Amino acid sequence: MTDSSNTQDAHSATSYSRSAILYHWTSFALIVFVGALGLSFGLIPRPSRPFWINIHAVVGLVVLALAVLRIGWRFGHAPPDYPEGTPALTRKLSVPVHWLLYALMIVLPLVGIVAYVWHARAFDFGLFKVDFGVASNKPVYEAAEEIHELLAYSLFGLAGLHGLAALFHHFIRNDGTLGRMWPWARG
Ligand code: HEM
Ligand code: HEM
Repeated sequence: MTDSSNTQDAHSATSYSRSAILYHWTSFALIVFVGALGLSFGLIPRPSRPFWINIHAVVGLVVLALAVLRIGWRFGHAPPDYPEGTPALTRKLSVPVHWLLYALMIVLPLVGIVAYVWHARAFDFGLFKVDFGVASNKPVYEAAEEIHELLAYSLFGLAGLHGLAALFHHFIRNDGTLGRMWPWARG
């Protein structure tokens, strides 16, 4: 089975590999879930809030773990070439935007861990718990929550613009960019 993300043939491929596409849309779904949950904490009745904050944290850790694996793998597997006629500005912009998205997928959960652990919260993974035993420290967890919130909005904003750019390319420029990351559009 050939994997079009291999450095060797990536440049002749027209779309991302199946694994890259699976990773992209799995992470997208997880981020939408974790982000929507984070924004809903204020609406959740106080007694059940710790349960949902734990779900938020555990699924957020999955986003972090997948991003670390994906970035490690990405260094050895170049993305496919841009479709012919892709404007120079798009080529120049997309590279830093993609790396900034990856950076946010790492730093946002890491700051979340600080906000969580320094609030004396334990991770409940269902079968086992992980408690670092750190004493609650209000200045630390409040500062971390602020930064976490700021980074979350940055991720939502940047990912929103990135998604809009993909839709613009698909519907207005009609240049096949979305098809490169679309599971059912592989040639
Ligand atoms: C993709 C990953 C993540 C996203 C998109 C995300 C997003 C958010 C959002 C939008 C909020 C609400 C901010 C506000 O308006 O106040 C929040 C709160 C929070 N997040 Fe995350 N988060 C992620 C991962 C994590 C992880 C991995 C942890 C911990 C291990 C974590 C811990 C927290 C904590 C402790 C809060 C504050 C809860 C409270 O109000 O007490 N987050 N997050
Ligand atoms: C949480 C939301 C999202 C995140 C974090 C995200 C992240 C990323 C990243 C990091 C890449 C670069 C992949 C690589 O080269 O390794 C990428 C590519 C791509 N994404 Fe997203 N994405 C999100 C949402 C979306 C949405 C909503 C769409 C479409 C409507 C979309 C369409 C695409 C396309 C078409 C590419 C390939 C771009 C190219 O060929 O250069 N993404 N995305």
